[in-house]
Amino acid sequence: MATRDSWVSNVGFVLASVGSAAGLGNLWRFPWLTAGNGGSAFLLVYLLIVVGVGVPGLLAEFVLGRLGRQTPVGALRSLTGSRWGSVLGGFNVLTTLVILSFYSVVGGWILRYLLVSPVGAYFDQPQQYFGAVNYGLEAVGFHLLFLGIVAGIVFFGVSGGIERVSKVMLPGVVLLLVGLAAWTATQPGTADGYAFYLGFDADYLAANFLGVLGPAAGQALFTLSLGAGVMLTYASYLDEDASLPRDTLVIAISNTVIGVLAGLVVIPLLFSQGIDPGQGGPGALFVALARAFASLPGGTVVATVFFAAVLMAAVTSAISLLETPVATLVDTVGVPRRRATALITALLAATGSGLALASSVFEFVSGTLADLLLTVGLFAFLAIVAWLLRGEALAEFRAGAGRFDALAVPWLLTVSWVLPVVVLFSLTNTLATLAGVSLGLGGRAGVAVLGTVGCRLAVGTRSGDETSVVDG
Ligand code: ALA
Repeated sequence: MATRDSWVSNVGFVLASVGSAAGLGNLWRFPWLTAGNGGSAFLLVYLLIVVGVGVPGLLAEFVLGRLGRQTPVGALRSLTGSRWGSVLGGFNVLTTLVILSFYSVVGGWILRYLLVSPVGAYFDQPQQYFGAVNYGLEAVGFHLLFLGIVAGIVFFGVSGGIERVSKVMLPGVVLLLVGLAAWTATQPGTADGYAFYLGFDADYLAANFLGVLGPAAGQALFTLSLGAGVMLTYASYLDEDASLPRDTLVIAISNTVIGVLAGLVVIPLLFSQGIDPGQGGPGALFVALARAFASLPGGTVVATVFFAAVLMAAVTSAISLLETPVATLVDTVGVPRRRATALITALLAATGSGLALASSVFEFVSGTLADLLLTVGLFAFLAIVAWLLRGEALAEFRAGAGRFDALAVPWLLTVSWVLPVVVLFSLTNTLATLAGVSLGLGGRAGVAVLGTVGCRLAVGTRSGDETSVVDG
């Protein structure tokens, strides 16, 4: 079997993983979700979920990847020793294809806005402009262009394409965002925006906790690229000497800082122009923010810089989403990388074009369906790591962990019992909302706890009893 590609350096892996995490989730989804869900209230709940669920969950996915040393289908088949592992890996591949189908449509919108920002093409009528270009044949064209850029990078492999591009683009995103956030702070009328975003609104939180919880959890998974096998794939190119807990912390913190920076640009700017931050939903960036750019001095320059940052962030995430199905074809079927890239890109060109022509399907796929697929995927990862592998997972955590070794057992306990309940709660939340069923907090919590215990019993164990594992 040919040698698998790998990261040239650990820094390359970390930058590529932060690049995967920090994308449209941070720059497109996060500002409008925050704005529409009480500002600081959303930020607080989101940060708690990132720390409590995101970090241990990301570690679990990294552990699976480095232990399996393959893309999801092969890795999960060998780790579970069952055909169900391949099925789950296939489910992950499907998830990346679904997400990338809508992701590259939004990437196309960004590309278009970057190209027309220098002349302020949308400044006169932002709403009408976005309405005219978001779906239809032109949207298909820009989706294909964006996909072509992404495929061009994946074509050159992990070290020659993904790592090289991430090392340039990610620092570029951070620099541009820092510059924009500093510039925003000099603008008049932003104080209310900062208060809305960074102040603590206990009343809003108490009255809307459940409503905030679902979107905050979905956002935490989406932004960390969790549950799709993307981080699993990236970790499969890692050496044993990398410290998974240290890298996970660096990646999660960097991604969160980038998201918070995006909020520090978008939310105060909207307030400074007297624009209701909650309006617009997914179109917020392209309508509300575009309106703000139009009324700012030097708006064309600011808009161009902003969309350049968003585009680079979107590209570094999209390459990770494309790498997973491409590398799966390479690993499991033996198709050469370049041919695999062409095949998967052709498929995505078709599915993304479909979404670029059908707005109602697009909204369902980019919202509820993406959240559902990621949640189910993460739950399955947790079940494998915590209930099936346990001792092996613990050993993998410890390999290269250094001073983080002491966190191994607390991590396994969290992943075994706390995370599955939280993830099932989030899943129940989404399903109940979808089905229009009103379960209440107690009902959802009950389903989550009983579901976790039921799944735990169904999975059984493979590597010794709990005590021996915990004793290390
Ligand atoms: N993690 C990627 C993003 O947030 C998918 O855009």
